[in-house]
Parts: sequence; structure tokens; C-alpha cells
Amino acid sequence: MLIKKPADIAPSEITPPELYSRRREFLKSAATLGAMALLSPFASDTVARATDDDLKPTPYKDLTSYNNFVELGSGKTAPARYAGTLRSKPWRVAVEGHCEKPGAYNLEDFLSPHKTEERIYRLRCVETWSMVVPWLGIPLNTILPRFKPTADAKYVEFTTLLDPERMPGQRVNLLPWPYVEGLRMDEAMHPLTLLATGLYGKELPDQNGAPLRLVAPWKYGFKSIKSIVKIRFTDRPPRTTWNLEASDEYGFYANVNPNVDHPRWSQRKERRIGDFFRRDTLLFNGYADQVAGLYTGMDLRKNF
Ligand code: MTE
Repeated sequence: MLIKKPADIAPSEITPPELYSRRREFLKSAATLGAMALLSPFASDTVARATDDDLKPTPYKDLTSYNNFVELGSGKTAPARYAGTLRSKPWRVAVEGHCEKPGAYNLEDFLSPHKTEERIYRLRCVETWSMVVPWLGIPLNTILPRFKPTADAKYVEFTTLLDPERMPGQRVNLLPWPYVEGLRMDEAMHPLTLLATGLYGKELPDQNGAPLRLVAPWKYGFKSIKSIVKIRFTDRPPRTTWNLEASDEYGFYANVNPNVDHPRWSQRKERRIGDFFRRDTLLFNGYADQVAGLYTGMDLRKNF
């Protein structure tokens, strides 16, 4: 992620010219997306926002060729180049920790019998670029109860595959591997939180975290851990990768907050991939109405 210095961000923020002309294409496809959104439980909200310029989905090509996935390489284009090495099928997921029904599952059994839903979410990276992603996924709160978490399950920890053969980036000591992320239990159970299995109606490409990744849209992108192999219920805050790496730069909560600067740059503005002008970053990435209540009484400057 921020292995790059801020000055290096500039080239990535220059809008490729071909993107300017895509607005018309989008306006034609917005009606289709609106119709797809009717299938979601957030139907009316999603339809309203899908036709809103603020939730214009980022083109598939950009979502799948400009990525952060350090295990597949540290540049933005490396993950797509090394995607073939991951081999995301077959896949197993282990569930451990404070629960009555731990186990290890084939991905299909882990997800069954839940159906995927489409959710169009903003994704705001801590590096100040942002995207809009039409995810396919299953709300985490429909999956977790099956494992019967106990009263000691206060947090949920997620771990990415550790396999330097399949993840060449892990041969380099850039981060403490494997990548780990975590949520408080109430964040994990929030209806916005998804386990994503696809985007744009297709299976998740490897560079986007196939076959299973987390999406918590009100948090900076680094919380959205990719290629998950383990979910563990814990009684303490999980020791998460970027927080271990630089705790003054990457807090455990990582809620998108324009009022709390990163120590090396402001978080007030963001550049949506494909846009020329920067736009204001919204508190909780625009999801304050839904999630602000999770943090009542907490000092968001301390718990950043
Ligand atoms: N998960 C793993 N395992 N490794 C990573 O390097 N990068 C994170 C997150 N999940 C990352 C990860 C960061 S910094 C961001 S911004 C998002 O993935 C990017 O998701 P995208 O490539 O699908 O846009």
C-alpha cells in the first residue's frame, strides 16, 4: 500500500484520457444497474444512488488493473500481472476461536446455502484514490451466526493465504505475512459488511482477492482483506498487518474520516479513478447514516 511515498501517487492520479469519454456509456448502463439493484434488500436506496453520479461504477478494466495486493506485487499493475499464480480454486476456509462450531470447509460449503447479492459501494483507499465497485457478495451477518460465536467473541480476525509459491510478494519481507485484518463483532455483523465473491456480476478476479474478500465500505480500503483462508473469533483486538507495520499511520478502526489526517498527508480530498477533479472525502465514506451509531461516545481522533 503505502510502500510508495505520497509524491509517487501523482502519476496514478492523472486521469487516463479514454476515461473521460466513458460517462456517456455509464449513463446508458445506469438504467440496467438500477434494475439489477432492485434485487437487493437495499433496493430503493441503491437504485437512487446508482443513477447518481456519485455511485457511477468504476469501469471493470480499472477495477481489475489498478490494485493493491502486496502478495501479488507492490505496484498497482503487478497484482493483475501475477494473478495467475494464486490458483484460487479449490479453496478452503477455516473458522476458529470463540465459537461452538469451528470447522474447515470447502468454499462452496462455507458459502452455502446463501445467495450472493449485488451491492454498489464506494471504496476509499487510504492513499486518497477511490472507486465505486458493483460487488457480488454475502452479508457477513448471514454467515457468522452458523458458527455460534460465544459471549467471548468480541472481535473477528481474518487471515489471507500464506503461500510464497502462489503469492510471490510473500517472498519479500515487505510486511509481516500473512496479511491479517479484523473488525469488532458489531462491525462484522453490520448489514453493510460483505464477504465478496465477485464484481460486475462475475467471479472475483484473483487480483481483487479471489475467491473471498471482506468489504467494509465505511473503512479505508486496507481493511478489505483479500483471499481469506481463516476467520477467527477473538476476545481481543486482532493484531492487524498495517497497524503492526505503522500504528501511528494505520489505526485499528480505519474509519474513513476527512477530519483526521494521515501523519504524512491530508485525508480531506480524494480522486475517484477516472475523474479529473478531486472531490471531498465524506465522513465514514458517505455511510455515516448507517454506521455512525457504532462509534457513539468514542473519540474518533484517538480511535482512528
Ligand atoms: N488484502 C491483502 N491480503 N493484501 C493487500 O495488499 N491491500 C488492501 C486491501 N486488501 C491488500 C488487501 C488495500 S490497501 C486496498 S486499497 C484494497 O485491498 C484494494 O482492493 P482492490 O485492489 O480490489 O481495489
